Amino acid sequence: MKIIMLGAPGAGKGTQAIMIAEKYGIPHVSTGDIFRANIKNGTELGREAKKYMDQGLLVPDELTVKILLDRVAKEDCQKGYVLDGFPRTIPQAEVLDKALTEMEDAIDVAVNVDVPDENIIRRMSGRRACLSCGATYHIEHVPPKTEGICDHCGQPLVLRDDDKPETVKNRLKVYHDQTQPLIDYYAGKGILRTVDGTRSMNDVFAAIVEILEK
Ligand code: AP5
Ligand code: MG
Repeated sequence: MKIIMLGAPGAGKGTQAIMIAEKYGIPHVSTGDIFRANIKNGTELGREAKKYMDQGLLVPDELTVKILLDRVAKEDCQKGYVLDGFPRTIPQAEVLDKALTEMEDAIDVAVNVDVPDENIIRRMSGRRACLSCGATYHIEHVPPKTEGICDHCGQPLVLRDDDKPETVKNRLKVYHDQTQPLIDYYAGKGILRTVDGTRSMNDVFAAIVEILEK
């Protein structure tokens, strides 16, 4: 099963992708998490990506595409994966399609987690993220069992650098300009499914499972 998660920043792509990955035993592949891990480890890629991420801009396709294609070529991705945060531009989607077509393969479903902009800003300020395993929490809606500590891996939780309200506004603009066109792109391929992302985390997940098991 090869799944793409679409949606605005903060729509809950990561939250749902982790739940899907756990239920179906497939890897959760997040380009944002890969960049954040590189920033944390002080790599050259991390330094380059941070310049864009801190402004709420997209990391250039040349950097992003190679990382993603290398990741999905790994052994653990052969039975499927859930992509979170990739593709984010039409050229990224085209490169992914081309690579999959060459392997006589294709994406099964693109799940669009739909949340209006006004809900997004509120969600971001309360978000806490684990930079080790990529899990996300919300101080009110999705609190960790122990304050400030990741339920999954026990590492400390942080407020992401790009979750400042000004940066979130930029990310939303970039989303509408560059990523939202992917909704029509996947609708045109007949694989787009939309869920109402304003409902509770478990209700959103139930709607996604229903789609995946149809
Ligand atoms: P990325 O890490 O992908 O960030 P994003 O798309 O901005 O999305 P977020 O991770 O902020 O939100 P999410 O949808 O995963 O929501 P979450 O589940 O955390 O990318 C970061 C940056 O990296 C980009 O800006 C770009 O610079 C760069 N980048 C990454 N990929 C790239 C690419 N392909 N090309 C170019 N550049 C790229 O949920 C949000 C909050 O809401 C959490 O607090 C959560 O607990 C809470 N929540 C979730 N679900 C619910 C619910 N149902 N009800 C209430 N609260 C909820
Ligand atoms: Mg995320």
